Amino acid sequence: MKLTPEQLKQFDDDGYLFFPNYFSPEETAILKSEIPGVFAQRREENVREKTGDVVRTAFAVHTYNPVFEALVHSPRFVEPAEQLLRDKTYIHQFKINGKAAFDGDVWQWHQDYGTWKADDGMPEARAMNLAVFVDEVNEFNGPLYFIPKSHKKGAIEAKHDLTTTSYPLWVIDNDVIAKLVKQGGIVAPKGGPGSAIFFHGTLVHGSPPNMSPWDRQIIYVTYNSVQNAITRHKRPAYIAHRDFTPIDAWEDDCVTRAARQKVAAE
Ligand code: SIN
Ligand code: MN
Repeated sequence: MKLTPEQLKQFDDDGYLFFPNYFSPEETAILKSEIPGVFAQRREENVREKTGDVVRTAFAVHTYNPVFEALVHSPRFVEPAEQLLRDKTYIHQFKINGKAAFDGDVWQWHQDYGTWKADDGMPEARAMNLAVFVDEVNEFNGPLYFIPKSHKKGAIEAKHDLTTTSYPLWVIDNDVIAKLVKQGGIVAPKGGPGSAIFFHGTLVHGSPPNMSPWDRQIIYVTYNSVQNAITRHKRPAYIAHRDFTPIDAWEDDCVTRAARQKVAAE
């Protein structure tokens, strides 16, 4: 899937792109059906919410589950990532964020590049997320909040927050957020399962807690330019990968194929 010149310009202007129905209902149902088995596992890659046993983030699932491995090779992710980053890419991070009904906690205002720079020694903001909604994302279940155009500010000073949630994050001060919002406003892209969202490594974003009765699972794949490999290995390899092998695009139906093969092998 190739982005049009208009889409490339929109990404450059706003820092994100949103696509309803990017993956089919069948593909999205396949992805969703794999998640309970992932979240049920007791493994260090599964980070739990502060308040209990609910999974907040399942990292590196593409390294042990063939359906998610196929997803990171989907041409619908790999090709736009190469266009937007103007290079071949490798996977810096893979995560499924659960944002579980009632329990899903806040993600404070931040830029992903803040963490990639400070913790992983990533030289430049030439990495980005391509994400797919597994559930419907609505105004109640903790949608992502973006500050459009904030990516143009580059890396913004941030503080390491080790206490607010169960997951350490480099977060941005409220007075800086207030100024950015005056300029760009806030958007909360909402849509059905299968919607995709691509966003720049320096786009300022966060998400409120999920106090609704609906889960809000989103899968994020972070692609990084192969010339921009991380230089610091402070975080575990399952959070900040050290395999810099370029990711190739598989067939467009690779997710459904992988699911069929997985069933046949079981
Ligand atoms: C993130 O910013 O990395 C995750 C935000 C979310 O899933 O709500
Ligand atoms: Mn983030």
